[in-house]
Amino acid sequence: MDSIVVRGNGPLKGQIPIAGAKNACLALMPATLLSEEPLTLTNAPRLSDIRTMTQLLASLGAEVTALQDGKVLATSCHGEINPVADYDIVRKMRASNLVLGPLLARLGHAVVSLPGGCAIGARPMDIHIDALTALGAEIELKDGYLHAQAKGGLKGAVHEMRFASVGATENFLMAAVLAKGTSVLKNAAREPEIVDLVQCLRAMGAQIEGEGTSDIVIEGVDRLHGATHPVVTDRIELGTYMLAPAICGGEVECLGGKIALVESFCEKLDAAGVAVEETERGLKVKRKNGRINAVDVVTEPFPGFPTDLQAQMMALLCTAEGTSVLEERIFENRFMHAPELMRMGAKIEVQGGHATVHGVERLKGAPVMATDLRASVSLILAGLAAEGETVVRRVYHLDRGYERVEDKLRAVGAHIERVREE
Ligand code: UD1
Repeated sequence: MDSIVVRGNGPLKGQIPIAGAKNACLALMPATLLSEEPLTLTNAPRLSDIRTMTQLLASLGAEVTALQDGKVLATSCHGEINPVADYDIVRKMRASNLVLGPLLARLGHAVVSLPGGCAIGARPMDIHIDALTALGAEIELKDGYLHAQAKGGLKGAVHEMRFASVGATENFLMAAVLAKGTSVLKNAAREPEIVDLVQCLRAMGAQIEGEGTSDIVIEGVDRLHGATHPVVTDRIELGTYMLAPAICGGEVECLGGKIALVESFCEKLDAAGVAVEETERGLKVKRKNGRINAVDVVTEPFPGFPTDLQAQMMALLCTAEGTSVLEERIFENRFMHAPELMRMGAKIEVQGGHATVHGVERLKGAPVMATDLRASVSLILAGLAAEGETVVRRVYHLDRGYERVEDKLRAVGAHIERVREE
């Protein structure tokens, strides 16, 4: 199992290219199940989660070919489709549940194992089930699998979700595009990854309006055709690398970044004492003078502060001047990085959904354990400015969501390497 070794050092300088969004790509790939014609995705990230989705789609009968070193995914689903998404693949990644909507739309039935994924809370499927049931599906849970059926096909409907779930919005969209009649999804998620999926579905011939707002209207069509679609920039990878110069000092330009993708995050950076400037190529990030200021953060659905940047933001606030409170409102149990940061000298108290961080002057390197995808990278960020050496173990979590993290950080002057362990 690999480890990442980081030695704290001084300011960083240079450019970091930001990849296409993992979370967008994981929703775009299953859209291939909706058409017999090929769907080509460009600007795809090269990550183990994408390989897991490739495996899952192949097991269902789709073809996914990685071209240009994995940056282009040529997908196609013209033959016979297997409606069963097996536990052995689904358990590796919660986003596997995104095949449920498209399978139902194309075949009228699907059998999908309940998912696994990051251990960050209960993560049930009730919002997905309610949304697809509104479109006429009958869904029951048997032996750990969701058995879904739409006798006579899916029918357009008005449905309001109890919470703006990202995955449930995506499943509803991919089911409603081929349903009979008009559907309206109220309290829909507004994340940029939803907008990206809608743009792709529209390129495939779907009729959708209102993406990026809480009400999305879908006019069902008989069939979708092929398309080529570029995956939107990964706003979480972007925010993560923006924090590197914020923590270490220096100036880093994140290529492909846009303020609109990370606006609420930029507001918090500004309050913390980090300057962000939009350039023609991306976002230039520089720590203003002196120590980082403490700031309070509340995670919320987009356009609020993203839960997927909470752990990384905590790494920054560990050495801020004063006390910060981070409130996690999306997932319970998403402070598993806090005890690891405390091994590095951070002063953090966790109570339920709140973490209180008392800033210390400097962290000290230590052996730490990655517990989930975003927690792993927060430990790397913390290690970048800590005194001495930090060894982050169990980095397989990291490889699910960050391509070549050590190369990207080394290119801007960080002391970081991957160590292969038996
Ligand atoms: C997506 C992202 C993930 C991000 C999350 C929130 C992908 C592949 N993953 O996950 O990185 O952290 O959005 O921005 O895009 N919930 C229910 N019932 C459901 C569905 C969700 O109670 O049926 C709860 C979850 O337990 C969680 C909250 O709703 O507490 C948010 O989940 P959701 O928005 O669905 O996140 P995902 O789509 O799983």
